[in-house]
Order: sequence, then C-alpha cells, then structure tokens
Amino acid sequence: MTYDSRNRSHLLLLIAGAKGAIGSTIAAAVSLLQSEPERILPSLITREGLPGLGAAEKVRMAGWDRTETDMESAIRGHGVLPEAIWGESRQLLAEIPVLSAPPPEMGLKGQTEHLISDIRDLLNKYPHSLPVLVNLLPSCAGGDLQDCRDMAALYAKADPKSFPDLAYGLAAVRSGVPVVNFTPNPIEVPALVQEAIRQGVPISGRDGKTGQTYLKIVLASALKARALHVDGWYSLNILGNADGKNLMDPACAKGKLANKTEILDEILGYSVGERYGTSTHKVHIDYYPPRGDAKEAWDVIDFNGIFGMPMSLRLNLQGRDSILAAPMILDLARWTAAAHKAGLKGLIPELAFFYKRPLGDDPPLTFQDQMVGLQQLEEKCR
Ligand SMILES: NC(=O)c1ccc[n+]([C@@H]2O[C@H](COP(=O)([O-])OP(=O)(O)OC[C@H]3O[C@@H](n4cnc5c(N)ncnc54)[C@H](O)[C@@H]3O)[C@@H](O)[C@H]2O)c1
Repeated sequence: MTYDSRNRSHLLLLIAGAKGAIGSTIAAAVSLLQSEPERILPSLITREGLPGLGAAEKVRMAGWDRTETDMESAIRGHGVLPEAIWGESRQLLAEIPVLSAPPPEMGLKGQTEHLISDIRDLLNKYPHSLPVLVNLLPSCAGGDLQDCRDMAALYAKADPKSFPDLAYGLAAVRSGVPVVNFTPNPIEVPALVQEAIRQGVPISGRDGKTGQTYLKIVLASALKARALHVDGWYSLNILGNADGKNLMDPACAKGKLANKTEILDEILGYSVGERYGTSTHKVHIDYYPPRGDAKEAWDVIDFNGIFGMPMSLRLNLQGRDSILAAPMILDLARWTAAAHKAGLKGLIPELAFFYKRPLGDDPPLTFQDQMVGLQQLEEKCR
C-alpha cells in the first residue's frame, strides 16, 4: 500500500512509544498546537514553514504503545509537565488514537503485517495527511542484522523480542511512510534501507541529539575551528526517568554510549587521548531517580593551545530530556515529510544536525557543516 503525498500538506505523527515520556509530551504539544498554537510555535525551528508543507500547527498524532493506561495518566505518571499546561487539553488528548503494540509472539513478519494494517486504518482516518513514523521505543539490545540483504533473511534472523523497533520501521516503509528514528537502536539495516529506496521513502536517524551531545558538537566544532587540541573530555549524566533506568542494562546502554562517544573523534579528526595510549573521552550515564526527566550533565574538557599549554573548561547542563526532545521531533518530522514530498528516499545525511549518529553518505559532522546541511536540504526540497 502506498499513497500519493503530492496533494497533502498536513502532518500526521505516527508514534511508536506514544505514551512514553517524550511521546506524551509531544501529545500535549500537538493538542496545544490546535487550541493555542502561539504557546508552542516559538519553540519550533521550522515555524516559518518548509517547502511543500502547510502551517506548523496543522498536525495530528496517533501511535502505538504497550501500556493500556490513558494519555492523561501517562502524562501525569511521567511528571514532565504540570497539569496547568495540559489540563485544558483533556478532550483532545483523549481523542489521540493509541493502538496496542503487536505481541512479540507474532514474530517479525506477523508484527509487520499487523502494523501495516494499523497504518492503513490510520491513513483512512486522516485521509489528507502526510504521515511520518517516529520511533520512540526504549533503547534495546538489538542484534547484528547487517548480513540480512533482503526481507526474507531479515524475517528469518531478527528477534522482535530484543529488537521490537524493526517491525515499526518495516511496516512504515512498506506502507510508503517515511521514518524518523530518534532511538539509539540501529533499525537502518540493509534490507530496510533497500525497501525504503524501493518504496521511495526517506529515513533519518539515529539517536536524537538533545542536550549534552548537542553542546559537545558545538564546543568541539568551536575548539577545532581555532586549532585548539582536545586532550581529554569527561562527560557524566544523571537522569531519573524510564530511559535512564533502562540504560542501566549494559546491553541496552551499549548503542547509546557508542553514539555519544564516537562522534567526538570523528569531528576532531584524531583520537582524543592518543598520546596516553587510551581514549580520554569518557562518557557515563547514571540512573538517579530524584531527578526524574530533569537530567543534569557535567563536562570537563581539557585542551591545549600553542606550545602545548594546557587549559580547561567546565560545563554544567541542567536540562529536561523530554522538553528538549519534543520540539526537535516535531521539526524532524516536518523536515522528513518535506523530503518525502520532494522525492528524496533512503537515508538523508542532511538531517545530521538532529542526531548523535548521523546516517547516510558522508553526513556533515561539525556544527557549522550540519547547519549548512539543513540549508542544502531546504534547497533540495524547493
Ligand atoms: N529524551 C531524550 O533526550 C532522548 C534523546 C535521544 C534519544 N532518546 C530515546 O528516545 C526513546 C524514547 O525515550 P522516552 O524517554 O520517551 O522513553 P520511555 O521509556 O518513557 O518511553 C518508551 C515508550 O515505549 C513504549 N513501548 C515499549 N515497547 C513498545 C512496543 N513494542 N511497542 C510500542 N510501544 C512500546 C513504553 O510503554 C513507553 O511508553 C528512547 O529510546 C531514548 O533513548 C531520548
């Protein structure tokens, strides 16, 4: 099943993990965009418009979750937003269709077929929309599926219990729906990317760059631009939400830590700590329940100037995970829908600005190049 995106301009977010901390924050934002758009629009970088897309407030949301709790209870439970912000939107929140996740026992093929049928129903419910699948499932152990060159090999090898995101990604591309992968989970396996190209849909990812890593890219790019040599970079995060708890499982944290770590050497063009014979870029994540979604991060950056003279910088971010993520996802989905309308397909490297692990051919790495990447994408979408 595919649909013609040319005569459509309003966004439909199809969110896997719709009742999680980020998903439910997006639900509140989407509801407010309908009733009081001026409270949300200033936080969107695409608010002035993107080629081929309608006004930023014209957005609806649907999705899936494995919890049966209603959206209002989900928002309350995550504690991200005070009731004063979403209380007036109760009716709109209750109307967001969130379907049950297909059970893992169905296997990858069965789950994918089930989700294709769900997507068909949702597109019938919102017939004039531009759908984008947004993956917000928990970080997972995944699996090595690089050798799966076609769908049959993927269905045979992948274990949906340890990699539930795949079914959502496959169902989307097989339905002609583009994909935003905000999770650290590597769903861009060859068989899925090939299918996306065959179906003419864009995919972007992986792992949203919301707080500490966003500032790391900015600072590393600035130090590089001045030929200041980074000798070591120590990063610590504490967070107390479900994502933080899940990341205490080493198998689930592996991908996230790699995404947060590898990017620095890639930007700088050398291995930080080479002269010590070991990497001196260290990243730690610790689950600390008192903070909930209000994460805190510290960075110690040791760098050298002329004559090798040492200097040092301290950074302390007191951020909010879902508050940083939700507007990024609205923007990302709008960029991805615009790319789809413009006929782009497969991995979209120009969206590197949004991700810790940018994908596609030769994605831009420094902050400056990533901003240029967005301008180039806008040109391509005209
Ligand atoms: N917040 C950030 O700053 C940030 C940055 C980068 C990446 N991420 C990633 O975004 C993802 C979502 O983060 P979050 O804080 O919303 O997590 P969360 O744990 O609060 O939400 C995940 C949701 O997915 C649901 N779920 C689990 N399995 C499912 C399945 N098979 N089908 C449908 N739903 C299912 C859960 O019930 C839950 O509601 C995580 O992978 C996280 O690592 C977050």
